[in-house]
Amino acid sequence: MGDEAKRWWEMHGRSYQETCQIPIDVLYGTGSPNEEELQLIGPVSGQRVLELGCGGAQCSIAFAKQGATVIAVDIAASEIEFAKELAGRNKVAIEFHQRDVADLAPIASSSQNIVFSAFAFNYVDDLLSSFKEVYRVLKDGGIFVWSVGHPFAHSIDSETLRLNRSYFETGKSVVGEETGCAFASVHRTVSDYCNLLVEAGFLVEQMIEPDSRRRYPYDPWFGLWGNTQERLRMFPATLIFKGKKLSCDLHHTDSKDN
Ligand SMILES: C[S@@+](CC[C@H](N)C(=O)[O-])C[C@H]1O[C@@H](n2cnc3c(N)ncnc32)[C@H](O)[C@@H]1O
Repeated sequence: MGDEAKRWWEMHGRSYQETCQIPIDVLYGTGSPNEEELQLIGPVSGQRVLELGCGGAQCSIAFAKQGATVIAVDIAASEIEFAKELAGRNKVAIEFHQRDVADLAPIASSSQNIVFSAFAFNYVDDLLSSFKEVYRVLKDGGIFVWSVGHPFAHSIDSETLRLNRSYFETGKSVVGEETGCAFASVHRTVSDYCNLLVEAGFLVEQMIEPDSRRRYPYDPWFGLWGNTQERLRMFPATLIFKGKKLSCDLHHTDSKDN
């Protein structure tokens, strides 16, 4: 999957960026309030922030502008190239790594206060390895805030608004193999995501299904790829989780209590 995602995003990343014109902001996805409204992360000045699947790095740049020290990771060279240019134009320094989120080897253990990701984990096969890596690089008490396309939205035909597959049919789906550059994504249920987070060691602090009946003026994906007003009115488009890495002492106390 890493290879498929890399190939697809390297081929289509530029046109994705040109189509969306994503603003410099911490955005969670279509039909969702931004971080300024949600306040899941809070002030980042002086904090170490790692963004996974950064794409054009608009969120990383927004964090850096607020005074964070930022590392951004993406699997696609073209996205990293675009992101570096954008960071340069915005006069912020960001450390970039082109690699799969399942292996964060260059990032030191217990070095980050915040790990953030928006709409990247839908394309990751081995999410448990990635979540374990996030757990490793976070400091004790660090937070992991991330979003994916809501699993309901994956099962709905954007024209008819009817289910086009069973919600329970999980796993990888591949479209466009005949084009020579297939688009692959992994369907997981809401509980799959929650349980992977727990299995990696996180305390789940919040799960949010933003009300997509509201129109968010900064949403660059509104109206694109079936994200129509009719669909957003009926089904959540984005799913957000906030996890916390508890300190080892707390884990220890918990297990002693049990
Ligand atoms: C829909 S874009 C989202 C980009 C950005 N987070 C945003 O919200 O605009 C998904 C990004 O995830 C990256 N990606 C997909 N699979 C990945 C993986 N296994 N490791 C690292 N990045 C990955 C893609 O290259 C792409 O840039």
